[in-house]
Amino acid sequence: MSKGLLAGKKGIIFGALNDQSIAWKVAEQAHEAGATFTLTNAPIALRMGEINKLAEKCNSKVIPADATSLEDLENLFNDSMEFLGGKVDFVLHSIGMSPNVRKGKAYDDTNYDFFHKTLDVSALSLHKTLQTAKKMDAINEWGSVVALTYIAAQRVFPDYNDMAEAKSLLESICRSFGYHYGMQKKVRINSISQSPTVTTAGSGVKGFDAFINYADQMSPLGNASALDCANYCISLFSDLTKYVTMQNLFHDGGFSNTGVSRDVMEKFM
Ligand SMILES: NC(=O)c1ccc[n+]([C@@H]2O[C@H](COP(=O)([O-])OP(=O)(O)OC[C@H]3O[C@@H](n4cnc5c(N)ncnc54)[C@H](O)[C@@H]3O)[C@@H](O)[C@H]2O)c1
Repeated sequence: MSKGLLAGKKGIIFGALNDQSIAWKVAEQAHEAGATFTLTNAPIALRMGEINKLAEKCNSKVIPADATSLEDLENLFNDSMEFLGGKVDFVLHSIGMSPNVRKGKAYDDTNYDFFHKTLDVSALSLHKTLQTAKKMDAINEWGSVVALTYIAAQRVFPDYNDMAEAKSLLESICRSFGYHYGMQKKVRINSISQSPTVTTAGSGVKGFDAFINYADQMSPLGNASALDCANYCISLFSDLTKYVTMQNLFHDGGFSNTGVSRDVMEKFM
């Protein structure tokens, strides 16, 4: 990580649950790169207290916010701007949760209340965050917002369940809001489509161990780690990527453009 790449930049990082979380690595790398930021997560996730260790290490402040609550989000931006001494330059949206996945409901036996919750937590929360920030004028010009997504938005991975719809919606919000926020305030918005990664959310998907090995063998470079994903996020928060916006960016070792690899072919010979 290039020290000083984010010097003087201020941000908000959603979604650091424990040291496996992608957001946790982003916070560590952002700190290393010279940024200051607040950390936020749902009040229930903060109860474990893990995040306080990260906050201490990064001279950060933890601000509880359920990302589906407009009131919590407004409070989050107000408190963050007060702590950071001004508007923010970057936001990481690293949030995902499906009650259908958690409760083992099959895709074709979905519980629609759960489905709504999946969409609200995993996708609409980004819209709510952006709308709140824009109304409060809380993000500086050329600021950068990054959301994390998965290739199940484009292709079927049967056990990804209703999270596939959530990720499609999330990527669409990046494009649409990227237009509006870009035109009016030059704020850029992108999604990173990350390789399967061992984290609490990732491991919740059925058959995850087999799947992560399959993805690794299908990718010419192998699966991208959480740390490498964090480094990619830092590059998108930096001024080196000022004109990148409204994109879904694959960070997957080449998986998305590979039809089949020799390693996988050999298993059928
Ligand atoms: N792990 C993978 O294989 C993988 C692959 C591609 C994309 N992603 C995406 O990366 C992001 C981060 O996930 P992760 O793998 O680091 O797992 P994680 O479990 O560490 O992070 C998910 C976070 O979402 C938070 N969250 C849930 N409900 C919330 C709410 N209502 N308000 C605020 N926060 C809430 C959780 O508390 C948790 O911190 C997610 O969007 C996930 O879908 C993960």
